[in-house]
Amino acid sequence: MPRRKGELRREQEERAGIKPRAREREMPAFPRDFVQTVELINHHHDVSLIATTFARHMQKKYGLSNASIEALGAASGTHDIGKTTEPAKRAIAKHGPLTTHRREGMQTHVPQGKRLLRKVWDQTVSDPKAVSKVVGIVGVHHEHWDGSGYPKGLRGEEIPIEGRILGLVDLYCSLRENRIYKTQKSPKEALVIVDYEKGKKLDPELTRDFIQFMKKSGIRYLDPKRLSE
Ligand SMILES: [Fe+2]
Ligand SMILES: [Fe+2]
Repeated sequence: MPRRKGELRREQEERAGIKPRAREREMPAFPRDFVQTVELINHHHDVSLIATTFARHMQKKYGLSNASIEALGAASGTHDIGKTTEPAKRAIAKHGPLTTHRREGMQTHVPQGKRLLRKVWDQTVSDPKAVSKVVGIVGVHHEHWDGSGYPKGLRGEEIPIEGRILGLVDLYCSLRENRIYKTQKSPKEALVIVDYEKGKKLDPELTRDFIQFMKKSGIRYLDPKRLSE
């Protein structure tokens, strides 16, 4: 009897030593598109919640205005929307570590996201300055402190503070999430990696403050068991 496409893929993955994700074992009936959409919504929610809570905590030290924190919240809650468009969408849907080709596809989510958000908000938001501010933050969320990020290779304080906060929280949340191409880290492991990136991907001072904040805050939003508790 001819084998179905899914069975063949599972056999190939087993031979390659790729373990099926827990999510797939538990929720075989959900289409991939739906799962990706839910993951994106959860990611945006978690990043937005942690970024704005952290920013409020650090408001005085970093001279953040209320408008800045609002813009950060809006940017955090939409920053990866470009991942719903090709070729980023395809790059995310594949198993295993990211190849260079897929990484390049993934990176298009930044300009695509800016384009989408501007298109929607230019028609629905009455304050063009606010739109530009939020879209600007989305545009720098993958810039790195040492200049190794994209799309512009900005470095240090050339990256606006809201973008540095978003990039930092985004990295932490990504480490805490299960994805088709990577497995989740514990809160401790995630903070060790975040700490390692200070002065590289991340603003060193901000990173120190974030680690202290996360250790003290008791934030458990990202505990995958939270829904069953
Ligand atoms: Fe992103
Ligand atoms: Fe993200």
